[in-house]
Amino acid sequence: MSHIVKLRTNSDSRGSLTVIEKVLGFDIKRVYYIYNVDESVRGGHRHKITTQAAVCIKGSCEIFVNNGKEALTYTLNNPDQCLILEAEDWHSMSNFTTDAVLLVLASEYYDPNDYIIENYETN
Ligand code: TYD
Repeated sequence: MSHIVKLRTNSDSRGSLTVIEKVLGFDIKRVYYIYNVDESVRGGHRHKITTQAAVCIKGSCEIFVNNGKEALTYTLNNPDQCLILEAEDWHSMSNFTTDAVLLVLASEYYDPNDYIIENYETN
């Protein structure tokens, strides 16, 4: 099931530096980021094998997750929160603030055949 990992952050008088190292449980093959999102709801799928990690590095957004047994809504509003999404975790992303940048790290290269598209209630 999806879960939040708190990322190690080094803050001092110069600012903050957050590290993603040895916490993902997978090797990163792909990185993408989502931004300039209006009131749209994005996502709406789960995967066959891809595990992902999502960090809202600026602004905030919500990620609704349903793995078929449990449903949860995460609010990502701090760049030290990393949401791990297992392949079976159907997810949708919404309520992006205008400044939001959602960074996603993925265990696999992009493959449309890895998507399982279904509809769930989002809240
Ligand atoms: P889409 O899957 O609709 O994004 P969301 O996660 O919000 O549902 O992706 C938007 C477009 O970007 C679509 O044409 C597929 C393409 N895309 C890639 O080329 N590579 C990627 O790694 C991803 C995630 C999407």
